[in-house]
Amino acid sequence: MKQIPILEIQSLCASVEGKPIIKELNLSIRPGEIHAIMGPNGAGKSTLAKVLAGHPAYEISSGNVSFKGKDLLELEAPERAHAGLFMSFQYPIEIPGVSNLEFLRAAFNSKNKANSQPEMSLADFEVLLDAKMMAMEVKPEFKHRNLNEGFSGGEKKRNEILQMAVLEPSLAILDETDSGLDIDAMRIVSRSVLKLMNKEMGLILITHYQRLLDYIKPDYVHVMVDGKIVQSGGPELALELENKGYDWLVPTPNNEEVSA
Ligand SMILES: Nc1ncnc2c1ncn2[C@@H]1O[C@H](COP(=O)(O)OP(=O)(O)OP(=O)(O)O)[C@@H](O)[C@H]1O
Ligand SMILES: [Mg+2]
Repeated sequence: MKQIPILEIQSLCASVEGKPIIKELNLSIRPGEIHAIMGPNGAGKSTLAKVLAGHPAYEISSGNVSFKGKDLLELEAPERAHAGLFMSFQYPIEIPGVSNLEFLRAAFNSKNKANSQPEMSLADFEVLLDAKMMAMEVKPEFKHRNLNEGFSGGEKKRNEILQMAVLEPSLAILDETDSGLDIDAMRIVSRSVLKLMNKEMGLILITHYQRLLDYIKPDYVHVMVDGKIVQSGGPELALELENKGYDWLVPTPNNEEVSA
């Protein structure tokens, strides 16, 4: 039986402040698949993630995106999250005055409410959170600290994975979660993400480095250049990029002549 893709992007074009960033992009993710998106700085990787999450600054000029068979672009950002889309930010924000516990419980209960599930009491949620923190190898003290306030770069990234663990998304987009992680933290985060991955969900890893993909082996690697996916392949493509960089994939007057 043919499975419905978790995410199907067709000819997506998106711009910010009138400037086209995403240009005719296609991408399909089926349940259980891990896709890595790599590409040079400014290619539009984070923009793609934000467009999918429903960031209001980005304007979709054309194309379709379906998420578990539904039109994603029809949904407001919170509705997308409630439907099971999760995105971890390249630069997680700090929210002073709101503890991690309060934030996570509010996010969890808001998703429950949207899905006609009962809200969870603080006591019950603490039990759930303690278990998630242990599974994600996050120190208990982070429960009562204000959200990301004063967290080191790596601690913020690890806290994003804790959010993912609590929200149990059907599609997670991790934008450079590996950047700024020390060697041990990279291993812990990879282990944590793999614990959260299952056959029903999809995972998109946006990364610059092959190293993360040694730990979380992708099914597909895509290279994004100037708002488009210009090459797709298996995990070996990431190794090739590590050795050769991106120049060979970017059309320049010289290599266009060579291929002509
Ligand atoms: N709000 C904005 N206003 C103006 N330009 C923007 C805005 N957001 C994104 N851009 C531009 O869109 C392009 C793509 O940016 P994006 O952050 O998506 O790149 P990226 O592929 O994630 O790069 P990196 O690898 O450095 O994270 C860049 O040229 C960026 O300057
Ligand atoms: Mg980026």
